[in-house]
This record gives sequence, C-alpha cells and structure tokens, in this order.
Amino acid sequence: MAVTTTLTEEILELKQQRKAILLAHHYQEPEIQELADVVGDSLELARKAQQVEGEVIAFCGVWFMAETAKILNPTRIVVVPDKDAGCSLVDNCPVEKVRAFKQRYPDYVLVSYINTSAAVKAESDVICTSRNAVDVVNSIPAEQPVLFLPDLNLGNYVKQKTGRANMRIWQGACFVHATFPARRLVKARSEFPNALVAAHPECPADVLAMADFVGSTSAIIDWCVNHPAKEFIIVTESGVQHTLRKRAPEKLYHFVANEQCNCSECPYMKMNTLEKLRDCLRDLAPRVELPAELMDRARKPIERMLALR
Ligand code: 13P
Ligand code: SF4
Repeated sequence: MAVTTTLTEEILELKQQRKAILLAHHYQEPEIQELADVVGDSLELARKAQQVEGEVIAFCGVWFMAETAKILNPTRIVVVPDKDAGCSLVDNCPVEKVRAFKQRYPDYVLVSYINTSAAVKAESDVICTSRNAVDVVNSIPAEQPVLFLPDLNLGNYVKQKTGRANMRIWQGACFVHATFPARRLVKARSEFPNALVAAHPECPADVLAMADFVGSTSAIIDWCVNHPAKEFIIVTESGVQHTLRKRAPEKLYHFVANEQCNCSECPYMKMNTLEKLRDCLRDLAPRVELPAELMDRARKPIERMLALR
C-alpha cells in the first residue's frame, strides 16, 4: 500500500513537471482512471486530445488511440505506458489490403472505425467510433456505396440501423467482444430476471438482439446511471464498472464472461500499469512518432467525423 502511494505521488509530481495531461479509456485499471484528467470513450478522448494545451499527453489506452491523439495535436509529445498495447481490430486490417480494395473499387466511400492504424486512417474518407458510427454512415449520400471497416459486428449493426443495402463490411473482429456468447447472456438473464442488458456494438448480432441498449462505453455508463432500473447485465469490458460504481453505487452490475479469456477484460488495455505510466512520464518514452505527411492525410477523415457533431 505504501509503495502504491509513493508511486501515485511520483506520477502526480512528474505530471506537473512535464506539464502533462493524462487521458484514460474506461477500460483502464481503476488506479489509472483515478489519476487521469479525463476518462472517456474513444470519441471523447479524441476530442479532448485535440484541445490539450499542455506539452505532453500521457495516453492510457491502446496504441491506435494514442496515434489518434498525436494526429489531432501533432505538436504535443504523446507518450504511452506500453507501446505493445495493441488491438485485434487493427491487426485484422493491414493497410495493403485496404489499398488493394480501393484500387479494385474506386467508387466506394471508406468508413473506418477509429480502431485502425494511422496508415489505414490515411486511406479513409471518414472515421467513426462506436458512438457515432450510425450517424457517420447516415451522413453519406444514399447512392454512394460504402465499405465499412474493420469491425464486422459493428458494421452489421450499422447496416441494420441505417437500412443501407449498398454497404460492404470488412471481416475483422474484436477478440474480446466477438467472443461474448449469446448462451451466457441467456443464462445471466435467467439468473438476474430484473436486470436490463447493455452491450457494446462490437458484440455479435445475437447478443445485440437481446440488449435493451447498445452503445459506446460512455453511452453504456450514462444509460445505466440515468435509467430508473436498479440492476444491469453489462456486455463489454469490465473496466466500465469503476465509473458505474462511482456514479451509481446503489445499483447492481453483472458482467458476462467471454470465451476468449473466460473474463471480460481486454488484455491489451490491461498491459498499462502505474509503474509503466510513471516510467513513460519520466523518460518521455515510448512516444508516438509518425511522419508529418501521414498525419496530415490521416487527420482529414478524423476531422470530418469530429465536424459532424
Ligand atoms: P469505445 O468507442 O466505446 O470507447 O470503444 C473502443 C473500444 O476499443 C471498444 O472495444
Ligand atoms: Fe481492441 Fe477489443 Fe481491446 Fe477494444 S476491447 S481495444 S476493440 S481488442
């Protein structure tokens, strides 16, 4: 305990010395969320990163989120606790394949989920997050064919919500959310018959079909906090419980385990620790560094999304 207190103090001191802002995703460990200036979903963190005036952004999330922060605010130093904190969706979508698709189908509008590499963003027409994907696709003229990448479950959800027939969907998946099985949700519903279900749109269609609410991490939190119901089954990464328990401690939250780890944790998100956070603030490394030309190209589709509101 005394060690943790010292570490926390060290981080706060380094944060001040470095004029750093600490941004954390909802899937981070509670002790990291507690130190953060802002905790949010991927859209909120991108918006925040764009506005940061401090010299350093310490990004506690995964690599593509830190890349997005750097692209949106290129004169800041962006550091991460662990550069190997990746994302299975990014891995499922190599830029060479995206370029090959574009060459074959030049008339398609490319809508890329924010969970993509900077190189894929640079090839895209517009970016979306789990919070605004339906609005982003709806903003594209109906006659234009769309390629949605890389998340198959989010893509199918958006296709269903928008009723858009001319939409092709990449076959990528989040190995945390795509492995939440419907049968475990059925079991949870029979164990907790009074609970409402909130799920992230990266979950399979049969899980989403059983959900009372589908939304981004922050949207799930807001919905549970503001809903008059007292009990919820949550189908997303269990990091969201920290804010849920702070904002509505009187309510009950049950988490469904997936088949990939028999848990509901993203192993990449959980690679970040207080020790690594202290080290990245001290060493100003690992640092996100990207060619200026790549950032200029990747920024345009992100800004197109941010302009949509
Ligand atoms: P949010 O857009 O809800 O932050 O989700 C990002 C993510 O990686 C979900 O797995
Ligand atoms: Fe990527 Fe899934 Fe982890 Fe989110 S939960 S960062 S989509 S691997």
